[in-house]
Amino acid sequence: MHFTINGERHEADPDIRASLLDVLREHLQLTGTKKGCDHGQCGACTVLVNGRRINSCLTLAVMHQDDEIVTIEGLGSPDDLHPLQAAFVAHDGFQCGYCTPGQICSAVGMMDEAKKGWPSHVSDDLSGDVVLEDGEIAERMSGNLCRCSAYPNIRDAIRQVWEGAK
Ligand code: FES
Ligand code: FES
Repeated sequence: MHFTINGERHEADPDIRASLLDVLREHLQLTGTKKGCDHGQCGACTVLVNGRRINSCLTLAVMHQDDEIVTIEGLGSPDDLHPLQAAFVAHDGFQCGYCTPGQICSAVGMMDEAKKGWPSHVSDDLSGDVVLEDGEIAERMSGNLCRCSAYPNIRDAIRQVWEGAK
C-alpha cells in the first residue's frame, strides 16, 4: 500500500485489517500520533485526512491510499514550531503531553471548521460567523481527553492562535 503523509509518499505492507493508527506507528514509525484507548474515545490518535480531523484508530489504513494525511510530525518541528505548538508551550497546555499531538491536530481541524462557519452543538447562531469563545472551544474539542486535565491552558492556547489568525 502507498500513503501520502505530510507531503511525502510512504510504502507499507500491513495486514489489510490494520487501522490507520497502527500503520502510522508500527509500519511507518510515525510515533507522534498516540494510541490511548484504541476505541475512538480519547482523541489521542487524531490526524488530519484531507484537512478533516479523524480518529485514526477507527479507520482502516487501506481506505486512505489516495488521501492527504497530516500527522503532528507534519505540522511543526522542534526548530520551527507550528503556532499551536508554540501556544501550547506558552500556556503550559500540556503536562504529560501524551494527548498533545491529538489535541493539536484536532485544534487545526477545528479552527478550519470554525472558519468555514460550521456551527457546533452549543452555537446560538447557526448561520453567522463562529465566535470561538470558551464554551465553543470546549465543545468543539470535547472529543480529545486529557487525563492531566490541562484543559484551561489548552483552551487558552487555542483561543490565542484563533484570535491571532483573524
Ligand atoms: S486511540 Fe483513537 S480515540 Fe483513543
Ligand atoms: S497532557 Fe497528559 S493527557 Fe493531556
